[in-house]
Amino acid sequence: GVKRFTFDDESEIPKLAAAAPGADVLVRVQVHNSKALVDLNTKFGAPLGSALPLLRKAEQAGLHAKGICFHVGSQSLSTAAYEEALLLVHHLFLEAEASGMHLTDLDIGGGFPIPSAEGLHVDLAAMLEAINRQLDRLFPQTAVWTEPGRFLCGTAMNLVTSVIGTKQRGAVPWYILDEGIYGVFSGILFDHWEYPLHCFGNGAKIPSVFAGPSCDGIDVLYRDFPAPKLPIGANVLVSDIGAYTTVSATRFNGFEPAAVLVWEDQADLVAKRRKLRETDEASSASIAQMP
Ligand SMILES: Cc1ncc(COP(=O)(O)O)c(C=O)c1O
Repeated sequence: GVKRFTFDDESEIPKLAAAAPGADVLVRVQVHNSKALVDLNTKFGAPLGSALPLLRKAEQAGLHAKGICFHVGSQSLSTAAYEEALLLVHHLFLEAEASGMHLTDLDIGGGFPIPSAEGLHVDLAAMLEAINRQLDRLFPQTAVWTEPGRFLCGTAMNLVTSVIGTKQRGAVPWYILDEGIYGVFSGILFDHWEYPLHCFGNGAKIPSVFAGPSCDGIDVLYRDFPAPKLPIGANVLVSDIGAYTTVSATRFNGFEPAAVLVWEDQADLVAKRRKLRETDEASSASIAQMP
């Protein structure tokens, strides 16, 4: 039932026309942004100059040329990247209109950042305001879509993991956790992210190493992390671990990725139990009043 697609190469057109005749299509254009943590434009996006010819070819194949999309790269710290992309795409909209092709939709992708582990300051409100200003100015009549990813879920999840092994290597304590780079910490590799680690306990903080449980030497998560002495069984908390983590986790070496508990489920459960109790109390009271 999907009737809306993006594409960035001519070779996709016959495939789309065959699989979804008459579907709406947006051409994805390449935009540059050196201030994104994950650059998607090395792989995706047609050169700006080929955007309109591609849309015209899509029309000729019976598809409906709806608009243009871009993604400035994930965890973008640059507002200018959006502003510049909007300016470039606006030129394409004008050019399309002048040539008789009326584009109605603009998709500005994702990339909206979350506060980073390195403490980089991100003034998201200012960024969104600037983007909105540019949209109001350049695209007042256009339907604007967006595809926020990490912004929605990055800060929504925390990981509780525990120490399952310890070893001392010279002066450096090592802690082996029950989650690693092949599991929920896969984002360290795939998303180039450092997740904030929180250890609990008293005593002097010693630069320590935290590693995952797998057999691989690459499975080292934190080095020189100042931590108090932790016993086997100690829990550690890793915050802001909601984006690009469990989705890319594997079962390498037979370790199941951590179970995901959604707070709403728990809240829902508590509410249901309360309701049951109230119903129980109400029915006990009405039974007590029976003659
Ligand atoms: C096409 C597309 N849209 C949206 C997203 C979400 O991006 P982000 O998490 O940077 O908001 C991605 C992520 O790779 C993507 O490829």
